[in-house]
Formats: sequence, C-alpha cells, structure tokens
Amino acid sequence: MTIKVGVNGYGTIGRRVADAVRKQKDMELVGVTGAHPHYKYAIANDKGIPLYALDMKSLEAFNAAGYGVKGTLNDLLQRVDVVVDGAPDDSGPVNKAAYQQAGVKVIFQGGEEHGLTGTSFVAQCNFEAASGKDMVRVVSCNTTGLCRTINAVDKALGVSKARAVLARRATDPDDVKKGPIDAVVLDPTTLPSHHGPDVQTVLPRINIVTMAFKVPTTHMHLHSLILSLKKPAAKHDVVKALEAAPRMTLVDGKSGYKSTANIMDWAREKGRDRNDVYEATVWKDSVTVVDDEAYMFLGVHQEAIVVPENIDAIRALAGGVSREESMRMTDESLGISHR
Ligand SMILES: NC(=O)c1ccc[n+]([C@@H]2O[C@H](COP(=O)([O-])OP(=O)(O)OC[C@H]3O[C@@H](n4cnc5c(N)ncnc54)[C@H](OP(=O)(O)O)[C@@H]3O)[C@@H](O)[C@H]2O)c1
Repeated sequence: MTIKVGVNGYGTIGRRVADAVRKQKDMELVGVTGAHPHYKYAIANDKGIPLYALDMKSLEAFNAAGYGVKGTLNDLLQRVDVVVDGAPDDSGPVNKAAYQQAGVKVIFQGGEEHGLTGTSFVAQCNFEAASGKDMVRVVSCNTTGLCRTINAVDKALGVSKARAVLARRATDPDDVKKGPIDAVVLDPTTLPSHHGPDVQTVLPRINIVTMAFKVPTTHMHLHSLILSLKKPAAKHDVVKALEAAPRMTLVDGKSGYKSTANIMDWAREKGRDRNDVYEATVWKDSVTVVDDEAYMFLGVHQEAIVVPENIDAIRALAGGVSREESMRMTDESLGISHR
C-alpha cells in the first residue's frame, strides 16, 4: 500500500518532513502548501514537488509571482490519506476543522496543545497509542529528546524523578524575526516550564520538573538532565541503557565533541541532508552517577529530531505496520543507525 501524504506548512519542519516522505518506499508526497511566495517554493518546484496554495489569496499571490501551483489546500486534501500540519504554533484548531471536513488523517506538531488530538507521540515510547487513530500530535523537539532519553533509562533502571534545565536555541538559522538576541532570556520567568508536563503527555508515569532559558545560538538545545534511579547503578549501566536505545547517539569530549557546534559539524561531515541530527545526543563523559542520581548533558537538534517521528506517525495512523518495522524503514531511509 502506498500512503498518499500532503504537507501543509513548508517551513523548518514541513520542508524536512516533505523530503523524508519522498524517501519512503511506502509513501507518496502528493504536494505541499505555501502561504507566501518565496525562494523555498521555487526550490520545491525545481525538485518536482507539487505545490498548492494555502487559500485563494495565496493562490493569486503565487500565480502573480509566476509559481506553478496545482490548486489550494482544499484540493490537496482531496488527494491525500494523511496530512502533516507544519503550520505555525497554534494554527491547529483552525486547520483541524478543514482536515476533518475533508476526512483526512492528520499529524500536528509540538506547537499545538496536547488536547487538540488527545494523543501525543514519540515512536519508541508509544507508537501503538496512535495506531489507526485519525489524528496525533508529534511532540516538540525538546520533549522528543527528553522522552527518548528518560524512557531508555527508565526501561533499564527505573526513573523515580527527572529534573532538567534547558538552554534553548533562540531561533532557527533562517528566522531573522526572532533573532539575533544579545541576552539570556528566561523562558519563562515563572517555574516550572511547560516541558515537564509535555513529557507526561507521552510518559505519564514520569515525575518530571523542568526550567528553561534561551541563549544566543541557532544550533541546538542543550539540556542538563538529572534522573533519580530506582535501581542501584553505575555510570556504565546508564551508558549501556542509552547505547541500546533507538535514535540516541553518544559522543565524547575527548574525541572533540565539546559543543553543539561540533555535533552540527558531525552531521555536515556525514553528509546528512541539511546537516540534520535526527538522534538525541548524550555526552558519554558527562554521564555521572552520584548516590541514586544520574547526571548528563543532552543535545537536541531542534530542526531535525522530530522528522523521523513524523514519518513513523504517518505509518501509525495509516495502520498495518508495526513499530519495529516502521522505525527500521524510517531509520534506514534517513541514515540513522538502527537498533
Ligand atoms: N522549528 C523548530 O525548531 C520546531 C521543532 C519542533 C517542532 N516545531 C513545531 O513545528 C510546527 C511548525 O514550526 P516551524 O518552525 O516549521 O514553522 P515555520 O518555519 O515558521 O513554518 C511555518 C510554515 O507554515 C506556513 N503557514 C503560515 N500560515 C499558515 C497556515 N495558517 N496554515 C498552514 N501553513 C501556514 C508558512 O508559509 P510561508 O513560508 O509561505 O509563509 C511556513 O511555511 C510548530 O508547531 C512548531 O512548534 C518546530
């Protein structure tokens, strides 16, 4: 079966998901939508990606700018089984009505509230929760990184408490509206941050509290993570649990990985599409156990980590493929070491 997929919103996430869909043997990218004509759509045209306009106003703008468009979002929705919503934060409630009217399954992103779909998704934690559903929300980049890491340690050693401090990238590299900033911005000033409750939408069993601030970088987020362990454990037990988990990578300061810039450089040297790091990255030498607590640094490439999750979410909604098989296909197509 070929799953026909549309992508509504062609920004940081939508563009990456669209390219990842094109790499799947069991999926067809039917088209992507644009709101305002700009160079990214000209490149999409060059790649042969069918382009649709968000609405009639956008259609007129795209036609006036000389872009080849095949219709509007409503036309695209008639031609797909699943739509991936890559629209700006909080567009979900309005877009959901259009998707429901067209009778298509939908994947929303982490900028939407959990309540919009009632199911939040990280493939290795709860693929089955989305099986056969009409809609699901792939959680945010930070929540994805936390869920993968905490779930790995919880399965092996038990986690009674998780505490995390998140240093967040200020904005994405191509977004000049939110940056550059010349400050450390408390995000928010009141504690805790929303990330802890968001992790609980996927891992309700985890007692977690988080706090966050923004720093002047576009590269990645960096978490300082502390996990209280239920079983007595040493550093090598925690490292073993992380190494055994899917979509985790462990790096080492001694090998030159001393910053988020080195992680991005690794992806560049590996020839990854857009230098994308799909894995959650833990600094192996940062893993330290004191009494019953495990400490570590965790890196999250905000532009990329949710891309494999979106691909698995498409298969989960469409049905017929197990978690293991879907993750294997996705990982192989994106060059992620599969385990
Ligand atoms: N960026 C990240 O680091 C990141 C990481 C994980 C999850 N997310 C989540 O992913 C979602 C998308 O974020 P993003 O960073 O990819 O956004 P983005 O880069 O700002 O892109 C948003 C896209 O949506 C289009 N658009 C504008 N209004 C729209 C509407 N009403 N309906 C459909 N599309 C519309 C825009 O079109 P034009 O370009 O034509 O104006 C643009 O292509 C959000 O929920 C966000 O929280 C983002």
